[in-house]
Amino acid sequence: MAATNDTRPGGRQLVMSGIRPTGFLHLGNYFGAVRNYVRMQEEFECYFMVADLHSLTTHPDTKELKTNVHRVLSENIACGLDPEKVALYCQSHIFETSELYLYLNMLAYVGELEKTTTFKDKIRLNPENINAGLLTYPVLQAADIILHRAKYVPVGKDQEQHLEMARNYVNRFNHRYGEVFPEPVAFNYGDELIKVPSLDGAGKMSKSENQLATLYLSDEDELIRKKVMKAKTDAGPTAPDSPKPDYIENIFGLMKLVSDNEVIRKFEEDYNKCTIRYGDMKKQLAEDMVRFITPIREKARDIRSNEAYLKEVMEMGAEKARKSARATMTLVREAIGLNYY
Ligand code: TRP
Repeated sequence: MAATNDTRPGGRQLVMSGIRPTGFLHLGNYFGAVRNYVRMQEEFECYFMVADLHSLTTHPDTKELKTNVHRVLSENIACGLDPEKVALYCQSHIFETSELYLYLNMLAYVGELEKTTTFKDKIRLNPENINAGLLTYPVLQAADIILHRAKYVPVGKDQEQHLEMARNYVNRFNHRYGEVFPEPVAFNYGDELIKVPSLDGAGKMSKSENQLATLYLSDEDELIRKKVMKAKTDAGPTAPDSPKPDYIENIFGLMKLVSDNEVIRKFEEDYNKCTIRYGDMKKQLAEDMVRFITPIREKARDIRSNEAYLKEVMEMGAEKARKSARATMTLVREAIGLNYY
């Protein structure tokens, strides 16, 4: 049996997640993750952390670090994350993480770590930098989570293996030293599994693949229009009520994220009657995207230019995170037996 952490004041369940400070946020990040964080902040005690230490495993050049951290904070706040409601903080500001990471390293087996999918992928892409930090990436991630004795971790499928490893470390710790940690589990709202399709009809929007097929929350209006107008279409259906090819389904899918119901209904009808004009549909989608992205982009830009505010946000977040971290670490040191007086 894993320990629980229902004794906190307020009694709200804990949610913890990490945000990579690499790349710009895109529409897929927004609908797949950030929007849910914004909803969770009303119902849970939330810890959202910028994973700057993790980025060192693959980005040893730190020249861009500050810009990236500021950007990711600004974009998340612009999307509605409220630094007053949640603990929004940087991983490197909480030294307790590194201490817990050290203890967990003694419970993590090299053989297991070598089998981790993300490790194998990364060493294939970067065979010249197979560092030990990369190998123990999942250990650091486990430390991030259990440092707050968090139970719910809003992450996508790609993080499921890391979470399973975190549960292993929790169980080993609890078994060896005594019950301190609850088992963390992936957690998302039922309707969260929205996939935001890429504009080229292939797969979903992502940071690394075709940048012209991905809409970023920092894209200027003209660029948004250009990207949307380039989306793949064809001459249109030739028989009423035809099934939609994937790339057309994708355009409707994107519309459902940002357009009004009547607009969608109109184009559905046009499609079924074979009178649809994809040029018009894309123009409409482009304008609705512009309407959606512009306020976020402008807000993020304002926040980013206000370094004093960002400092305040990071300090406030670190203070909340540290409080929770210290309470956990006292229990951890006691459980391990590092209490000599
Ligand atoms: N590994 C996660 C990713 O690649 C980022 C991350 C770091 C994280 N620490 C975390 C996610 C703790 C959830 C909980 O996206």
